[in-house]
Amino acid sequence: MTILDGKNLANQLVIKIRTEVDQITSGGKRAPHLAAILVGNNPASRAYVGNKMKLCEKAGFRSSLIEKDSTCPESELLDLIHDFNKDPDLDGYIVQLPLPKHIDEQKVLNAISPDKDVDGFHPENIGKMTLGLPGFRPATPLGIMIMLENYGIETAGKHCVVVGRSNIVGTPVSILMSRKGYPGDATVTLAHSKTKNLPEIVRQADIVIAAIGIAEFVKGDWIKSGAVVIDVGMNRVEDSAVPRGYRLTGDVDFEAASSNASSITPVPGGVGPMTVFALIHNTLQAYNSRF
Ligand code: GUN
Repeated sequence: MTILDGKNLANQLVIKIRTEVDQITSGGKRAPHLAAILVGNNPASRAYVGNKMKLCEKAGFRSSLIEKDSTCPESELLDLIHDFNKDPDLDGYIVQLPLPKHIDEQKVLNAISPDKDVDGFHPENIGKMTLGLPGFRPATPLGIMIMLENYGIETAGKHCVVVGRSNIVGTPVSILMSRKGYPGDATVTLAHSKTKNLPEIVRQADIVIAAIGIAEFVKGDWIKSGAVVIDVGMNRVEDSAVPRGYRLTGDVDFEAASSNASSITPVPGGVGPMTVFALIHNTLQAYNSRF
């Protein structure tokens, strides 16, 4: 059984990017620049954004974090986005989700210039992904593709069951897994809250991608012998036995699934670091298309 170590892989891949960035900057050009907008005080969002800023530093990128409190009016956020769209010294930026309830998330995503949308959430980039045209791919699905590729996991003709149909993971990863080429060419089932007989469907999967956001939702006996398990979940479960009061758990019962799977991503240290790497990858793509 192989542990798909996203932390180690992301670190290796970022070293390659660092070499490229060092060559660029030693030639006199400025470094790529990524900004993140964080609205409110969601502790998980704060931790994710912190990881994104840290990896920028490792990659030799410039990074900027703009923090707004949870009462920030929608119009103020949209003004900031318009400024970012025009800023020639900024290659890409993200607005960390979720946003406070008084802000219309789709309106915000629509306002991001598609050529700076390194999270790949703008409808133009989603459309380009669907059509197989060049553009930014959403960070988590792209991170999963990069991981499958680097571990040489076969996908052609495999049955991939995606559990969860969110706009940021389940739906786009189902599109990427079914596209022509590698990694892709899979037969994809997109399962969701209305799916009947979910355990039986998951039992048919050669590749399971769990992105439902419920701790240990996918049970060990749903995993076919030899299946590849990609766990996108990052759930905080109360645990008074540890000092911080919670532990992080994926959407898959890791211990039980490990005895059936041929390879599996751990949580933490699996898909999470690959998402952050994919953002760095997209930012370099944005920079290279500007210079
Ligand atoms: N919230 C959860 N995942 C993501 C992500 O990949 N990007 C952003 N912007 N917000 C998120």
